[in-house]
Amino acid sequence: MIGVGLLGLGTVGSGVHQILTNKRDYIKRKLGEEIIIQKILVKDVTKKRKYHVDNFLLTDKFEDVLKDSAIQVIVELIGGEEPSFSYIKEAIKRGKHIVTANKLIMAKHGEEIVRLAEENSVKVYYEGSVGGGIPIIKTLNESLVANKIERIYGILNGTTNYILTQMTEKKVDFKDALKEAQNLGYAESDPYFDVSGLDSAYKISILSSLSYETFVDVDSLYIEGIERIEPEDIEIADELGYVIKLLAIGKRLENDKLDIRVHPTFVPKNNPISRINGVYNVVQIHGDTVGEIMMYGQGAGEMPTASAVVADIIEVAKNIKYNISNGLINNLQPHTLVSIDEVENPFYIRLMVNDKPGVFAKIAKVLGDNNVSIASVIQKHRLTPVVPIFLRTHPVKEKYLNQAASELSMIDDVREIKNIIRVEEL
Ligand code: NDP
Ligand code: HSE
Repeated sequence: MIGVGLLGLGTVGSGVHQILTNKRDYIKRKLGEEIIIQKILVKDVTKKRKYHVDNFLLTDKFEDVLKDSAIQVIVELIGGEEPSFSYIKEAIKRGKHIVTANKLIMAKHGEEIVRLAEENSVKVYYEGSVGGGIPIIKTLNESLVANKIERIYGILNGTTNYILTQMTEKKVDFKDALKEAQNLGYAESDPYFDVSGLDSAYKISILSSLSYETFVDVDSLYIEGIERIEPEDIEIADELGYVIKLLAIGKRLENDKLDIRVHPTFVPKNNPISRINGVYNVVQIHGDTVGEIMMYGQGAGEMPTASAVVADIIEVAKNIKYNISNGLINNLQPHTLVSIDEVENPFYIRLMVNDKPGVFAKIAKVLGDNNVSIASVIQKHRLTPVVPIFLRTHPVKEKYLNQAASELSMIDDVREIKNIIRVEEL
């Protein structure tokens, strides 16, 4: 019998409890062992729960879980940095194996946690931390292990993909779409993490660390969220043959520098990533021997995430007697990140300008003076005296584009630079 202590009984914890309870016999048959939840830590033991939970399992004291000798595996599903980080460390020191879906902790403290786990001869599994139900971590650690990974493109946040899809297909406004995502249990307890791109950054940092045998510090990444995306950007993207996605990118460049970033991106409609909608996530990976592979599935939500977490619990149970490495800190190599200033992309720029002769000439001059070459221009909806202009540039380094943008904002007839979005010709 494998004893499990659950920390957290919210969206994901409830899903895990449901699977382990309802599929107890099925899991026993497959594993040859029973997995039993011994204790569940929650914040409020009196709270009304979505599903029936035996009261005697609930506690609001971490010590009750930590000190229970029948518990071999602690499953952390509280989220956030503290107290989760401390609980995980204490549990490891007590010789408990860890399963977590906490990307913040694995991205920021994964190296320390895995090292501590190795010192204490326990395992740490974190499949649920990236891509919800998509088994991407196992795929990188095991199935693609013979590959030198060259690039990763991902939609790694279900909440923002759901919001962008609702804004695109149903013309729902940003706030209402976010509220729906929260009601569906996709969003973090503070949805700032989703909307700001941070959640995606934690996830691409985990995938890049595994792929490039290094430890990527999330604080050094370029991160931009979807807060500034407006219906006008979505409409013009569509007209130009693109869909706006919050893309997480992790590339190994020819000089072995790493280019890792998260930002809204114009994705060409002929790339399958553009068609991944709603809460679905996708990871497209290019390895030197396998070529291109793509995995997609529900990236958030109770049951898809619980599927990954329970798979980890079963993996711990199966491998408890083998010395299988955790992957994250094996032969870590130093790396150099390419500065965002040096990254070259085509850009889309949306400006509000005074509708009068000579304005476009001034804009074109500033762009030309800064090595920014224009690929196309659209002017629409005559809202005299101010009109929107949509520009698409040829590939240019960010530093030139930023300098041009700063000079454009000083032209009197440029009333506002509404948005600048990178285009990725995947
Ligand atoms: P919820 O906010 O739904 O649940 C959190 C749970 O933790 C609740 O049961 C809460 O107790 C308990 N809790 C909160 N603070 C404390 C505390 N200080 N001490 C003890 N218990 C506490 O979170 P989710 O289930 O959505 O997320 C859990 C983890 O899974 C996070 O790391 C998240 O990033 C990750 N994740 C979530 C996904 C999703 O779709 N939601 C998908 C993939 C990963 P109480 O019930 O009493 O309030
Ligand atoms: N809030 C996250 C998302 C949960 O929306 O993708 C899954 O990690």
